[in-house]
Amino acid sequence: MDFRALPKIELHAHLSGSISRQCLHEVWLRKKEAGETDLEDPLMVMPEGKHDYDLKAFFPLFSSYIYHLISCPWSLSHTTTRVLEDFASDGVVYLELRTTPRSLPGLSKAEYVQTILDAISSYHSRSPPPPLRAKLILSVDRRNSLPEALEAVSLARTFQSAGVVGVDLCGDPAAGPIDKFRPAFDQVKKIPGTGVTLHFAETACSGTGKELMELLSWKPERIGHVIHVPRNIRGQIINGFASEEAVKGDEGRKKKMGLELCLSCNVHAGMISGGFEAHHFGEWWKVEETIIALSTDDVGVFGSPLSNEYALVAEHFRLDRTEICALARGAIEVIFGGEEEKERLRGIMWTE
Ligand code: IMP
Ligand code: ZN
Repeated sequence: MDFRALPKIELHAHLSGSISRQCLHEVWLRKKEAGETDLEDPLMVMPEGKHDYDLKAFFPLFSSYIYHLISCPWSLSHTTTRVLEDFASDGVVYLELRTTPRSLPGLSKAEYVQTILDAISSYHSRSPPPPLRAKLILSVDRRNSLPEALEAVSLARTFQSAGVVGVDLCGDPAAGPIDKFRPAFDQVKKIPGTGVTLHFAETACSGTGKELMELLSWKPERIGHVIHVPRNIRGQIINGFASEEAVKGDEGRKKKMGLELCLSCNVHAGMISGGFEAHHFGEWWKVEETIIALSTDDVGVFGSPLSNEYALVAEHFRLDRTEICALARGAIEVIFGGEEEKERLRGIMWTE
């Protein structure tokens, strides 16, 4: 099967982690020639072919390197455009890109978001129109304070009409308790049409029953990773959410939880053991009450485009062509992009 030609939906991709090394290198070269950076070449910091970043090495890649390189409007806009092109050339037809608003020298957080939305908008206006449509999710980092989280929610409200469709909780799972963010996610629920997605049970330390019950009480439409899930919480994901939020339109059908599962990231970062065959995709993909959106997380770091994630599940879990098409198409139901976009996708996603 041609996994690149298969039209695909990507719902869990961090902007700064999705920039290819070649693109980072080009930005670095331009800045180096202009005398604007003393940073080391990204191809030295992140050598081609190296994808085994564990979580300890992974988070500092951003705070100590990538954020210093992508530090001006031009580099932000240029890398956003390249990320869109890369997803499109891999056959992605709908993308929800997520990013943590940050202020850059001379650029407020609102201008950071506006710059990304402008890049998306001018990408959409190309002629002929590209098949990829992109939306934006704003992330709250676990290291943030509550006022910072509330600011991200306020930006999501401000930029909703320009293409912001959701709010995410991300960041180092070891960064401490998350209860403090509840008022911020309560606010998201008051913005009609804005979804909630949460990094969920990524590591043992963020997989306690207490934390996961708290996260579920924020009523996310989707959760990401879903690795260290105790049995009772698994039951909550399958039954609790569906019954509590039951019967929302859709001819009385129960609303299903979206699971953003990222195989290569989990294997390369050592978040699971036993390799691809042992990935919890195998436990979830036949659970009728949930919907899987296969995703890349950080393709620039882990090096596996979405087409390869589909190839991996076909190989390791023996999905045939019909099952692969159903998996890809299933994600339509959990996008945050609205009914019109769902209709467009129903028209272009393969049925078999
Ligand atoms: P940005 O939000 O566009 O700057 O993308 C990079 C940021 O995404 C990182 O600093 C992390 O906070 C977050 N991130 C990327 N991958 C992961 C992940 O697997 N778990 C949690 N946070 C992540
Ligand atoms: Zn993530």
